[in-house]
Amino acid sequence: MQDNGKPKIELGLEGVYFTESGICKVDGVNGRLYYYGYSIETLAENSNFEEVCYLLLNGRLPNAAELSGFRNSLAQERPLPDEVAGLIEDSPKDAHPMDVLRSAVSVMALYDPDANDNSDAANMRKSIRLVSRLASAVGAIGGCRNGIGYVKPDSSMGAAGNFFYMLTGKKPDAEAVKVLDLMLLLHAEHSSNASTFSGIVTAATLSDLYSAVTSAIGTLKGPLHGGADQAALEMMHAIGRPENTEVYINDALAGKKKIMGFGHRVYKTYDPRARIIKNRLEILQGSANEEVRNLTSIALAAEKLMIDKLGSSHGIWPNVDFFSGPVYTDLGIPDYLFTPLFAASRIPGWCAHVMQYWKSNRLVRPLEYYNGELDTQYVPISQR
Ligand code: ACO
Repeated sequence: MQDNGKPKIELGLEGVYFTESGICKVDGVNGRLYYYGYSIETLAENSNFEEVCYLLLNGRLPNAAELSGFRNSLAQERPLPDEVAGLIEDSPKDAHPMDVLRSAVSVMALYDPDANDNSDAANMRKSIRLVSRLASAVGAIGGCRNGIGYVKPDSSMGAAGNFFYMLTGKKPDAEAVKVLDLMLLLHAEHSSNASTFSGIVTAATLSDLYSAVTSAIGTLKGPLHGGADQAALEMMHAIGRPENTEVYINDALAGKKKIMGFGHRVYKTYDPRARIIKNRLEILQGSANEEVRNLTSIALAAEKLMIDKLGSSHGIWPNVDFFSGPVYTDLGIPDYLFTPLFAASRIPGWCAHVMQYWKSNRLVRPLEYYNGELDTQYVPISQR
């Protein structure tokens, strides 16, 4: 209780610990990130998305036979139920892709015999299905938007390869698959971020995994969270040319606007994921594609300006969403798929946290301080 008799309110639950977990450490002071103790740099250098999914769902790295079995399970689950593919095909072309994805996951539950089985084994089966099918659903959303319709997944490819295949109908380029796989790995997990927390809140009522993931997708959509990647690219397009960057950023900051892709609730230093993605931008500076070169120059100019203005002084640094735009543009991925792809990468993290939370489940139910009147007189409608 404070001196004024009010409890201390932690707006946005900032600084509040609500549970313990060994899945992920976000060190916001030193700019470090670990999945089950492995640094993100180590995983980015040595691992791949499928192996990281196994790590997050099982708490340890697989041996070769386990990874091969896991990949087979993912491959088997990749096709979408006809009803889900149909929903994606029939969705209005101007619907928000995150709304389509959220609806698709809801409909997946209707055709999953395990949907309401909350046993550990069923939850693991559903996690594998969700990890596999979210990437398929995002590829299908892309394919249906660009006119080629629902391309059935190819079980010989992993999540990144299949996504490209379903988006374009063509066998993907190996280098593009490698880059997208790294992007998926970098986004796979991030402790009790807003979407994971909302999934846990839903799960903690002893609802089911599909409901938790549906909540998480709805939460990820917002521009203060996963939606920032698309918003950051839109800003780069609005800037237009690298030489306009300074005026644009100064005007935006003077108008108290936020620069999307900067700032973080936990990192008060450079986001280590952004640092890894920035390495790719250094390659893109020499791209043959003029649009990509231009976006890259704008992104690097904006990064330098923002760090000079707000980095050390305000703790506002690039986050994981800032550099994705030029990278995805180079890969031929349209901006409306950025946030859905984020969902397809964060799905192992969501499932891992929900399954872990259930092991010592407690309903999440914080308090709000009531600051209204009491015993208000009810006036009949005819007298109002
Ligand atoms: N650009 C300019 N100013 C910023 C930015 C930014 N990107 N981020 C924070 N600030 C300023 C705020 O205006 C505020 O200033 P004030 O104290 O003068 O009012 C101060 O920094 C604190 O900002 P809050 O929004 O209150 O801090 P919070 O901890 O809630 O911020 C957040 C985290 C929401 C991510 C914020 O930095 C932001 O809105 N960034 C832009 C959106 C974004 O990139 N989101 C993706 C985050 S990463 C992820 O979710 C995957």
